[in-house]
Amino acid sequence: MLIPKTLLLTAPLAVAGVANAGEIFLQPKAGDPLRGLTAAQLALFEEGKTLYSTPIPSAEGMGPIFNKSNCQSCHSTPTGGWGNASVTHFGMSDKGSFSMIPGEPQTLLQEFAVSEFCKEHVPAEANLTAIRMTNSSMAFGMVEAVPDSAIAALEDPDDLDGDGVSGRVHWVRPLEETDANAPLRAGRFGWKAQVATVLSFSADATRNEMGITNRLLMEENAPNGDAARLAQCDPVPEPEDIADAQGFAFIDRVTHFQRYLSVPPQTPRSGMSGESLFISVGCAKCHVPEWTTSNAPALEDAIRGQVIRPYTDFMLHDMGLQGDGVADGYAWETELRTPTLWNLRTRDPMLHNGAASGGTFSDRVRTAIALHGPYGEAAGSAAAFAKLPEAQKAQLVAFLDSLGRMEFDGDGDGHVDALDLASFAMAYATPVVTPDNPGAMHDIDQDGDVDETDLDWLVQAYEMPESGNADCNGNGVADVRDIARGTSLDAGADGVPDECGACTGDLDGDGAVNGLDLGVLLAAWGSAQPAPDLNDDGTVNGQDLGVLLAAWGTCP
Ligand code: HEC
Ligand code: HEC
Repeated sequence: MLIPKTLLLTAPLAVAGVANAGEIFLQPKAGDPLRGLTAAQLALFEEGKTLYSTPIPSAEGMGPIFNKSNCQSCHSTPTGGWGNASVTHFGMSDKGSFSMIPGEPQTLLQEFAVSEFCKEHVPAEANLTAIRMTNSSMAFGMVEAVPDSAIAALEDPDDLDGDGVSGRVHWVRPLEETDANAPLRAGRFGWKAQVATVLSFSADATRNEMGITNRLLMEENAPNGDAARLAQCDPVPEPEDIADAQGFAFIDRVTHFQRYLSVPPQTPRSGMSGESLFISVGCAKCHVPEWTTSNAPALEDAIRGQVIRPYTDFMLHDMGLQGDGVADGYAWETELRTPTLWNLRTRDPMLHNGAASGGTFSDRVRTAIALHGPYGEAAGSAAAFAKLPEAQKAQLVAFLDSLGRMEFDGDGDGHVDALDLASFAMAYATPVVTPDNPGAMHDIDQDGDVDETDLDWLVQAYEMPESGNADCNGNGVADVRDIARGTSLDAGADGVPDECGACTGDLDGDGAVNGLDLGVLLAAWGSAQPAPDLNDDGTVNGQDLGVLLAAWGTCP
């Protein structure tokens, strides 16, 4: 969304997400493209996103053994983000020491195949299987642009400062690196920090999750390493991923999309008591809040020299019993990479093995923290958290819940719509709004109150343009402003002031529930559009149709 210049205010903010400090802007939603992309880059984002989400048929090279036929089916929340699908690794463990099974080319299981004959199985010799949940750093281009030297500067392998937290960089060679003498790169993607660049991960996932060979990984995976069986299962010549008319292969296209994904929002952006606690109990030693991306001239303007807050150090840590037992490159059995936390509020399950799942956000976070101990580098901070009084634990959890929240999204459903106006009105009426106050999500300029400036921004963010500009009570003020200021009530939470006699189901605001409204509802069928979602369950479906039919006729 383009923000008029008049709305670009400045305020003394220490950090303002991805922008120069002091600049205020509406944060993009998780899954949106980065702000500041050129039109050509935006087009690449969209084309890449389409390919990322489109199943590829086996006739085009998918398989013979694979896990899914498109990236989005695992990376679903949002598209490009994490998901609740997992993959399985297998091998042999001897008193905690991991080895691959002889004859098996890799530890990752490809669970599905084009036919039963071609299928791979966990071999009988395997005495260790470990699952890995689908993770996602989001804003992959930003993460990729964090300089290796900045990550390495935090490394303390011998724990010289004696705080129990060491951290180790996983130095790796990108698949696309052709110069054998080029320095290794700091790995940052994957639960074992086993990959340094987005293109490498795209090539890896394209071959290993989808069975599509590509210019960086030319060799097809044979089921359980059985080349004879492979010969009968894979008629398509390698590489299966070939460049299109513009010279981009599938792996390039999905890389464009992932690199141009935005940084998830954080609201309020700073100042919560829970963040101070997060630092004081030692979480931030690994979940390092802030990084600045490289200034390399080759990087896109939207990516170069930006301040980001991913809450990770991209390093490997000994996590004791929470380790997965699998050695991966130079990562040891007990080591895992600190995950980014910047979209945590939507994450379910949490942890590499999904051990913190279900319940409320607070339940999941508390389980995840408890599993940071009792052994390993995070044991000290897990113990320090456990000793906090309950009120402070709740503050720390409340801070984590701000990671991934959009401004003005009072009900946290990922949309800024009529349902959020009441919570804005409540904050508008509150004299002082501190970052710990629930109303802080409406104080976009963080000046300590929710006022007209914030309201201007709410109007920008409002997703219901049809009622956003309306002035049904004819008082010269947009209805959305009347409701947000509390000067009009909106009991139905439909964005139409009560005095207008608005009624549920009158989607086009013509004073009657009729065939025109039915048309609006049917056009939105299956979507999450807020207005026609009359019962607010997140989908426009038969239940909303029922509500509309029950209200059929002239509005009272
Ligand atoms: C079967 C599910 C599945 C499919 C399909 C899948 N992924 Fe993944 N993805 C995962 C899992 C699981 C991880 C964590 C892997 C690990 O750490 O070893 C992951 C990790 C990643 C990461 C690193 C995330 C991070 O920040 O650490 C990238 C990048 C990625 N996948 C890209 C892709 C692309 C591109 C595709 C499609 C070509 C794809 N994935 C298809 C499950 C999947
Ligand atoms: C020694 C480094 C270290 C410290 C200190 C640390 N963490 Fe972690 N954190 C990790 C690693 C590594 C993981 C991944 C563990 C896993 O997946 O099994 C993790 C995972 C998490 C997760 C789950 C994230 C996800 O995407 O699944 C949360 C939440 C979390 N940490 C919060 C905290 C909090 C809160 C503290 C302080 C009380 C803390 N961490 C301290 C390294 C650390």
